[in-house]
Amino acid sequence: MQIITEPEQMQAIAEKLRLNRQFIGVVMTMGALHEGHLSLIKLAQQTAGTTILTIFVNPSQFGINEDLHQYPRPFEQDVALARAAEVDYLFAPEAKSIYPENHQTTLECGPLGKRFEGERRPGHFNGVATIVTKLFHITKPHIAIFGEKDAQQLAVIRQLVKDLNLDIKIISAPIIREENGLAVSSRNIYLSSQERSAAAILYKGICHAAQRVGQQEKNLLAIAAEVEQMILSTPGCSPDYVIFINEETFELADTAEEGKEYRLLLAAYSGKVRLIDNGKIPA
Ligand code: PAF
Repeated sequence: MQIITEPEQMQAIAEKLRLNRQFIGVVMTMGALHEGHLSLIKLAQQTAGTTILTIFVNPSQFGINEDLHQYPRPFEQDVALARAAEVDYLFAPEAKSIYPENHQTTLECGPLGKRFEGERRPGHFNGVATIVTKLFHITKPHIAIFGEKDAQQLAVIRQLVKDLNLDIKIISAPIIREENGLAVSSRNIYLSSQERSAAAILYKGICHAAQRVGQQEKNLLAIAAEVEQMILSTPGCSPDYVIFINEETFELADTAEEGKEYRLLLAAYSGKVRLIDNGKIPA
């Protein structure tokens, strides 16, 4: 595995790979690699001949009161995991080579990037869209794998690829869960063991919602309220938002229509740790 830190060098390698008819798959991460990331790498390797992993804690997607400076950066451990996973290239730039002093141009998401998570974290998806686009231009992939765990991020990236006519296929990967149902995330390391057990309520909420829709309950607002109540009744937990969206439009859904697909989106705190999760629920 070759480690590259300079965008120009990565671009030159990617260009050469393309000239040699290599099919490139990229997995973008902020490091602190876990099972979820490893599943994305595996998926990339199943489709692409060459896999590029990027590790970059992107400052422009963090709000001023968020955890940019505390965000875990176990780089040596990440390198070992990437090597063991047989990644071909690891692109791990420093912030100053991605955002040099006179960097001025950023992307602005439309309404999709401003609701739900975007409303709670203003500017977050603009930062994601900007870095993802930059990394697309640097790694020149044919395919890119993103996890369903960040469902709205995935929707924003699909929209970005469509809006900007990028010739890249976006492949989504299912959420990887711990034994108790908690979705695997780099931020789980902030949880105490008590908070970790309590956080299983998010997945229980998704299962409850799926069951209620399966029982032909059409009132999605009422189901979301039940899930919110489940979270509120769990010691140490509090909901931020629990909503259903229409899977096709990523807009708020209040009533289930037979044959349509919905997704329950949850954001909740276990202790001080903010967690997000989601599950696809067909009606
Ligand atoms: O999902 C993430 O880890 C990040 O948002 C991404 C896509 C790597 C962009 O920084």
